[in-house]
Amino acid sequence: MNTDKRGDDNLELLRKAYDPEAFREQGHKLVDQLADHLADSLNGEHEQTIPWQEPEESVAFWRDFAAGSAATTETFAQEFLSRSVRISDPRFLGHQICEPVPTAQLASLAVEMLNNGSGVYEMGMAGTGMEKYVVGRVAEAFGFSDAADGFMTSGGTLANLTAMLAARAARGNGEDWQVGTECSKYSILVSDQAHYCVDRAIRIMGWGNDGLILVPTNDRFQMRTELLPDLLAHAQAEGRQVLGVVGSACSTSTGSFDDLRAIGQFCQANDLWFHVDGAHGAALAFSKTHRRKLAGIELADSVAIDFHKMMMTPVLSSALIFRKGEDSFRAFSIEAEYLFARDAGPLDHFNLARRTFECTKSALSARVYSTFAIHGTKLFEANIDRLHQLAKEFAAMVELHPHFELCVEPETNIVCFRYAGPSADASHSECNDRLRDELIREGEYYIVKTKLHGETWLRCTVANPFTAEEELSGLLKRLMELAITPYHERRIH
Ligand SMILES: Cc1ncc(COP(=O)(O)O)c(C=O)c1O
Repeated sequence: MNTDKRGDDNLELLRKAYDPEAFREQGHKLVDQLADHLADSLNGEHEQTIPWQEPEESVAFWRDFAAGSAATTETFAQEFLSRSVRISDPRFLGHQICEPVPTAQLASLAVEMLNNGSGVYEMGMAGTGMEKYVVGRVAEAFGFSDAADGFMTSGGTLANLTAMLAARAARGNGEDWQVGTECSKYSILVSDQAHYCVDRAIRIMGWGNDGLILVPTNDRFQMRTELLPDLLAHAQAEGRQVLGVVGSACSTSTGSFDDLRAIGQFCQANDLWFHVDGAHGAALAFSKTHRRKLAGIELADSVAIDFHKMMMTPVLSSALIFRKGEDSFRAFSIEAEYLFARDAGPLDHFNLARRTFECTKSALSARVYSTFAIHGTKLFEANIDRLHQLAKEFAAMVELHPHFELCVEPETNIVCFRYAGPSADASHSECNDRLRDELIREGEYYIVKTKLHGETWLRCTVANPFTAEEELSGLLKRLMELAITPYHERRIH
């Protein structure tokens, strides 16, 4: 084939792939498929919330699907939908994730299509403008002044790591970014219930095992803040340089809120950085009923929040907000840079990649901004209040049931409980491990589990506002049926 002919063929192939009319037609079909999927979930017109597949089966299926010649946007979407967890199903009670509100799903489609990276202002003008708005509204909800600033980033894990880097720059020796920390003596105080990403962040920075000082928790899994002075004194006597404290708002396993005011006051008195991991619970700032659980958040130096947990936004969509805006330049800059960033020219303030881990950053802001603009904060509030109410109702059902045990009264939409009735063939932990595994293999309900004090507890996040009494009591009924059926007679092994 001569080069001209090959060039023409390539161009033809590319033209076909980008054909606007084909896009329109496939797009309309896709939206129909997605709307049907949502309707089926809400009407209960399908059997499984989680169509469990063994990993090898899944890998084989997608390999064969790609190898076949019949893939179209429609068949691809059909298979993708039917092989995915239905978060829109009211029986989805698993991880901390949400069915995005449809307007945000559509905004997300536009984000992917426009593909404007918003690390540098000129490449992401709209995204940057929306991001400034979102950061401002969230800072205001936390009770921060106009001096606050921050940015959006890809997930709570990255937001927490970035906050730890900022804490190091602010309270460390001041030279770590330039000369490195050969054998770090830095530590952070954090509750033994904090999300594992805090531990990971500390290790990424090279502080090792001693970088994390775990503060024990009380019987509600909240940090025992009265222990902070002794733990600080002990660490300092051991030669550690403690840079700050991380408060959980809330913890992942049980959804427990640390006393942020007590931590904030302790940090102020000891010149420590105060970071709040609000990946899950900082959203409560948008609920008049529940925001009291965040009392003291206004003292924080930095707060991480995920919009994709309780704020109806597609993953990943998070923000890191700093009480003092200039601190938002600290994590990835040498001192002079962050101090003088504003002087580097008015545009530099809007080049968000200066402050974020990402270089090319998706226009994350559009996903959540669209909800602020189209529905207003009352939609966040309605969702948060409803989820909390459902979690409370579920906890009450568990407490009333003679064969289930509630771990702790829920403070948010996370409920930990376990089957504690007659189970001839196993200890509580083994029995609950088995119950949860059988439940997801069966596929009707999706719940998760956690370990607390070495024992297995079942864990539900009421993430779907359309879950109702029927699904919650149905879950207990099904768990009960599985628990009392002798193991060899159960459908799934
Ligand atoms: C308290 C807390 N922090 C951080 C994270 C990590 O957030 P992401 O999954 O957005 O990285 C989670 C996730 O569940 C969490 O619950």
